[in-house]
Parts: sequence; C-alpha cells; structure tokens
Amino acid sequence: MTKKPYVFITRKVPDETLAPLKEIAEIHSWTEEEIPVPRETLLEEAKKADGLFTMLSDKIDTKLLDHAPNLKVVANLAVGYDNIDIAAATEKGVVVCNTPDVLTDTTADLTFALLMATARRIVEAADYVKEGKWQNWAPLLMAGSDIHHKTIGIVGMGRIGSAVAKRATGFDMNILYYNRSRNETAEKQLGAKYVSFHTLLEQSDYIVCLAPLTKETENLFTSEVFHKMKRSAIFINASRGAVVDETALQRALEEGVISGAGLDVFKEEPISSEHPLLRLKNVVALPHIGSSSMETRKEMCELVSRNIANVLCGKKPETVVEA
Ligand code: GLV
Ligand code: GLV
Repeated sequence: MTKKPYVFITRKVPDETLAPLKEIAEIHSWTEEEIPVPRETLLEEAKKADGLFTMLSDKIDTKLLDHAPNLKVVANLAVGYDNIDIAAATEKGVVVCNTPDVLTDTTADLTFALLMATARRIVEAADYVKEGKWQNWAPLLMAGSDIHHKTIGIVGMGRIGSAVAKRATGFDMNILYYNRSRNETAEKQLGAKYVSFHTLLEQSDYIVCLAPLTKETENLFTSEVFHKMKRSAIFINASRGAVVDETALQRALEEGVISGAGLDVFKEEPISSEHPLLRLKNVVALPHIGSSSMETRKEMCELVSRNIANVLCGKKPETVVEA
C-alpha cells in the first residue's frame, strides 16, 4: 500500500468539515483555534507536506516553498490570497486555491452592517446605554447620518462589491463604482454607474473598499485621497488593511476631513489595543469577521478540504487561483 499524502492544517477547524480529506490523506493539524501556528512549525511541517490548509495569517513565501519538495497544493481559507506568493507557487507547480462565492453574501452582509453601524453610531449608542449614560431623551442624541437615498461608492466591484450594491438598492441608494474593468452586469441589474476614482471620491457619501490587495491597490487611500472626499463622507474597509495609509486615515478622522470610518481590516492584525485609530469615537472597528458566520465558515472549510483532496487525487479543484 502506498503511503497516504500528508496534509497539514494550520489551525483547529471544525472536525466534521474535514471528511473529504480524511478519506484520502494523513492529516496533521495545529491544535489551537485562536493562536496562529508559529512560523518555525509551519516551515517544518511544509517540508513534509503534500498539501497545506492555510489561513490568511500564514505567509506562504519563497522561503517556505523552496523547502517543501512534496507540496502540491496550498488551499487558503479566504477569498483573498495576498498572503501567498502566487508567482513563486506557480513556478514550483504548486496549485493555489481560495474560497470565493461561498462567502460572498455573508461578507456583503457584514460590510453593509458595518456601514450602517458607522452611519447610525450603533456601537457608540449601545455602549452609551450599557454604561448608564442615558439620562434623558434629546433631539440630537446620537444623531447619525442617513443611509437611504445617499450615494455609495464601491471600490472593487467583484462578487462581494456587487452583493453590497444589491443590498444598497434596497435602501434606494445611488450606486457608483470604480473597478479595474467595467462590470456590465452590475450596471444593468443594479443600476450601478461606472465612474473614475476621482469622481467616486468627490460624489460618494459612503466609500466602501472591497478591492483585493495588489501592487495597484496597496496604499490606495492616502491623505490626498481622503481630502478629495466630502467632509461628511464615511469610509468603510472590508478588504485588506494595507490598501489604506492608516496614519493618513487617522489624521483625516481627527481633523474632520471625513466624518467616520468602519474598519473590519487593519495593516497589522490583530491591531494593538493602543492604536490611535481605536481611540476615535467615529471609528467602528471589527476583528476581520467579514465571512464569519457559522454556516459560511463551515462551508469554506469544506471547500478547502475538497480542493486539497481533489488536487491530491489528480482532479481539478473547484476554485483555483490563476497566476
Ligand atoms: C477574508 O478576508 C477573505 O479574504 O476571505
Ligand atoms: C470576491 O469574491 C470578489 O470578487 O469580490
């Protein structure tokens, strides 16, 4: 009998989602749910592995790939894959998989919830009640900004961007978008209007970033960009922290250049609790939970398992990242 392929999972994931893998592979797993695998352990495991089941916090770079002679597949539990050196993996013949589609609606729900929470000061208002500060009703108590009939500007009109736009139609919003290429389906079905980045910044009440992190989008949101936005604008980021110059964002919020920000992602994750952005009342900060519903995280784990199993059995994975 030939030896079963060796698969390393870099975090504890729900056991039942591993069924497709269990049939065909010898599974080893980092056993902590909330603590990432140490780099040294990951490098050691990669030396033996035929397949890696990875998280967005694991760096899959040339150093790792150069010392993983048997590796055939890296399957990431995320739609984004900026933690993986795709060119290097491709050159070595390692297949890279991600989890698009299964998380689209869940991530769009969270993005829209973050927009609403920021606009209507939900977190601040809920804390106000719990902290016993609510003494009287007042005409402008916790008055926020309207969402309905306002303009939303979506930067990155892929699957998730389109799903956010769909939600915006229910709020009678005017929808603008900026993307590498036009999305005619979103234009026809959702009435989204393709505009330049400049126009989007000038006209939007809500600027929502869902663009993947690439060389082109890294540090896209600079001080100059925030200065082009309306003073009443609210910035929402549910893609990757590195698309934003966080110091510039912090200044823009402190100086009233824009009015608020809802952030699910940060340059450094977890963000330090001492970070100046977290001291600002007009910031709603979340711990990168875009796709985090029970249903969707389980579906993502199952998809990762099937992708690894397929590649190791010589079949096509369902979702593959093209170099
Ligand atoms: C999460 O950020 C993902 O890329 O799935
Ligand atoms: C992710 O699936 C996207 O294309 O937005």
